[in-house]
Amino acid sequence: MAEHYFAFLHTHTLFWFITLILFALTVTFLRVGKAKLSKIMQMTLRLFYVLVLITGIVLIFIHMSLLAVIKGILAFWLIYVMEMITNRMAKGTLEGNSKWLFWIQFVVAVFVVLYFGYFVIG
Ligand code: HEM
Repeated sequence: MAEHYFAFLHTHTLFWFITLILFALTVTFLRVGKAKLSKIMQMTLRLFYVLVLITGIVLIFIHMSLLAVIKGILAFWLIYVMEMITNRMAKGTLEGNSKWLFWIQFVVAVFVVLYFGYFVIG
């Protein structure tokens, strides 16, 4: 599997990039009240969570380092926060303090995961 390292790394990069775009689109469609479109986006977003997770796990196995595992845990936290934001927005329960707590976590998680991916293990 190690000989396909760059193929997995580039696929992973493509997947997380699409994931972030889909997250932005889902949030936008939810904000403007496009229920059907946001539902489709949310389902597609969930599919990409799985794809980014699978490629990430393969990269952990290729890397076999503690840093890669930590990167994976941080990325998992980011996926959790994205799911909480979109899910709660769809249900109309993203409000008050929790709203800011989730958005702050999102900004911190994106920054930390990208920094970790590119500058710590990259
Ligand atoms: C939306 C979520 C994610 C984002 C934004 C993200 C971001 C990144 C970035 C920026 C890199 C570096 C790419 C490069 O060096 O060209 C990377 C690599 C990596 N990611 Fe993710 N990732 C995500 C999800 C995951 C998940 C869920 C896992 C594991 C379960 C994971 C594990 C890894 C590993 C092991 C590497 C390899 C680093 C290397 O070989 O240099 N990632 N990711």
